[in-house]
Amino acid sequence: MQIKTKCVHSGECPDLLTGGVNTPVYPSTAHKYLNAEDVYYPRYFNTFNQDVIVKKICELEGAENGVIFSSGMAAVTTALLTFLKKGDHIVLQDEIYGGSHAFVDNFCEQFGISFSFVSTDAEAIRAAIRPETRVVYIESPTNPLLSIVDIRKVGAAAKEKNCVSIIDNTFASPINQNPFELGIDVVIHSGTKYLGGHSDLTCGAVVTSDELAEKIRKTATTFGGNLNPLSCYILQRSLKTLSIRVNQQTQNAMLIADFLDNNPNVEKVFYPGLSSHPGNAIAAEQMNGFGAMLSFEIKNPEQSANEFMRKLKLIRPAVSLGGLESTICDPASTSHVKVSAEVRKRQGITDRLLRLSIGIEDAEDLIQDLKQAFEV
Ligand SMILES: Cc1ncc(COP(=O)(O)O)c(C=O)c1O
Repeated sequence: MQIKTKCVHSGECPDLLTGGVNTPVYPSTAHKYLNAEDVYYPRYFNTFNQDVIVKKICELEGAENGVIFSSGMAAVTTALLTFLKKGDHIVLQDEIYGGSHAFVDNFCEQFGISFSFVSTDAEAIRAAIRPETRVVYIESPTNPLLSIVDIRKVGAAAKEKNCVSIIDNTFASPINQNPFELGIDVVIHSGTKYLGGHSDLTCGAVVTSDELAEKIRKTATTFGGNLNPLSCYILQRSLKTLSIRVNQQTQNAMLIADFLDNNPNVEKVFYPGLSSHPGNAIAAEQMNGFGAMLSFEIKNPEQSANEFMRKLKLIRPAVSLGGLESTICDPASTSHVKVSAEVRKRQGITDRLLRLSIGIEDAEDLIQDLKQAFEV
């Protein structure tokens, strides 16, 4: 099946009792059991609606198995703490989602885990791997500067050095990038973004091999963070339109990136689909589409990022991303507020940077809205 068909049909279990075309929702937390191996319980991550959604996401990513969580951060932290123990070391890109960065900054030390943050570059990542390194953790495109790392090279370096490679694939979504097929061991999503896609659901997913999924599920049964059956169903319904949503969002993003790139009020545009972007060639090779996230820096010193956002009429200032509606935020005071000013500066996240999550509206309406907001 092609991916559009998988979005609609993978994992679906039509209702055998009524003949209904939709998968039923089974809300029970207690299930009859006759022997100890057959215990079904939501926090064991093995109930019917959890299995259905895992199957669908695995087929979209080309992975064997996975675990569905109540948030992206539950997915990130559970996956990391599955593979890291006292004395281990982890290599991460400096440019990753602020919450994941803050988790490593604030908690690894207390678990006796050492870490190295490095630049978004496969060679720098390879060079930072030590004998005690167990995990290599990346994002591509990154949040919020849309940097690109060569995923194949990172996967190969990790494999060669016996490390587990993990990628947060939230920004690309399974429609625009399938890292498991590029040699990465574990793929994470904040399902709150594109997978849910309607800004009304918090969830996370990890997909990987059967072997690693079993390890992650075992850790998860202790940490919790399971998704309830109704949310699983909402996610399942949302995924049926994932490809048409993301394709439309991606097309819109390219048009808006071009508009901003040719606008004298803009200092710089960060979008991997632009030929001027340093990661353009690698992105074209490893992605199916360049995605629907982009960032730009305002040039006019008379206008602050906040003033610009306040002038927008259609594009909403909002912190999350990946919804049907276009949203905008200033990462320095939102997604990356927990990252120290020093790290933000090192990463190039200035106070004049704005991050756009492009929706499915008509691109021309979005361009007109941006145009009028630049007028001071
Ligand atoms: C790239 C990325 N990863 C992970 C997360 C965390 O996801 P959640 O908010 O669902 O916990 C976010 C949230 O913004 C994100 O942007």
